[in-house]
Amino acid sequence: MPEIKSAEQKPPYYPSYFPDLARIVRIKQEVMDAVIELEMAGGRPLGHMPGQFVQVSMFGYGEIPISVCSPPGRAERFKLCVRPVGRVSKALHEAAEGDWVGIRGPFGRGFPVEIMEGRDILLAAGGIGLAPLRSLVQYLRDHREAYGRIILVYGARNPSLILFKEDVDTWCRDPSMEMYVTVDEADESWTGRTGVLTGPIKEEIEISPVQTMAAVVGPPVMYRFVAAELLAKGMSKRKIYFSLERHFKCGIGKCGHCQLNGIYVCQDGPVFRYSDLVGLSEAVEAWAPE
Ligand SMILES: Cc1cc2nc3c(=O)[nH]c(=O)nc-3n(C[C@H](O)[C@H](O)[C@H](O)COP(=O)(O)OP(=O)(O)OC[C@H]3O[C@@H](n4cnc5c(N)ncnc54)[C@H](O)[C@@H]3O)c2cc1C
Ligand code: FES
Repeated sequence: MPEIKSAEQKPPYYPSYFPDLARIVRIKQEVMDAVIELEMAGGRPLGHMPGQFVQVSMFGYGEIPISVCSPPGRAERFKLCVRPVGRVSKALHEAAEGDWVGIRGPFGRGFPVEIMEGRDILLAAGGIGLAPLRSLVQYLRDHREAYGRIILVYGARNPSLILFKEDVDTWCRDPSMEMYVTVDEADESWTGRTGVLTGPIKEEIEISPVQTMAAVVGPPVMYRFVAAELLAKGMSKRKIYFSLERHFKCGIGKCGHCQLNGIYVCQDGPVFRYSDLVGLSEAVEAWAPE
């Protein structure tokens, strides 16, 4: 089994086989997704870090992994952004305020926020990849003085599919952030960039490759192209972090469902250094540049 070095952070998860109860406090529809605000029974904080996920159970339906999309430390409540694609996610998407769900976690290794301190951070989000990155963006903004440039490149399929529109507008107005929002297909209302998100990375953004670290979340196909652009800018694979998605069952490294060569994505990730994935043939086949 390869040694995983992406885990500079101490594993912040604790093994948990039994869900705790959490109450749905508020639900906001965000395009096709539901942003669900939850409170743990007893009001205890979730205790997560950006990039971590929870295993959410909908009673009578099953359990699925969902990234926490709110930052740690702002409030005791936390948020999940849920896209209805199948049995459990549709049931969760259709839940009502006041309903109870089960929560295990937070689990997994998130983004290395301590190692990122003092660096310029380039974040690339495609589609619903903005959900886990939102937690990181808000964390960086909450600790603004600890980081250098914050550059966010966000690509959506079309203007109506821009997630977290209010946040995106706020970040665009924030002079301490550098925002590049692009859509694959414009409509008549759209006056911004058109094209895939590698466009601004390649043509508009200048970085110091030594000073910069990158966090990338989106559909697997995006990783290959974003990685190629970042490498072309002189970035080392050690400074590029990807969040991987696989099918999870247990979420705590016990069942093998999420296995990628010799690693468990749920426990060793979901956030990995690119350099730690090189040579893992299943990861390379799935998304990475050669
Ligand atoms: C670490 C992690 C974080 C995630 N964060 C989020 C999030 O923030 N918001 C969100 O909406 N979803 C997220 N997902 C994906 C979510 O877990 C799946 O959509 C969910 O498990 C589907 O279960 P289901 O019962 O609703 O659908 P199913 O009936 O099991 O499947 C429906 C369809 O979705 C596909 N699918 C199922 N699981 C996955 C998966 N893990 N990755 C890709 N495709 C899948 C199936 O192949 C099938 O085509 C995350 C997954 C992981 C591993
Ligand atoms: S989901 Fe069970 S080992 Fe990862």
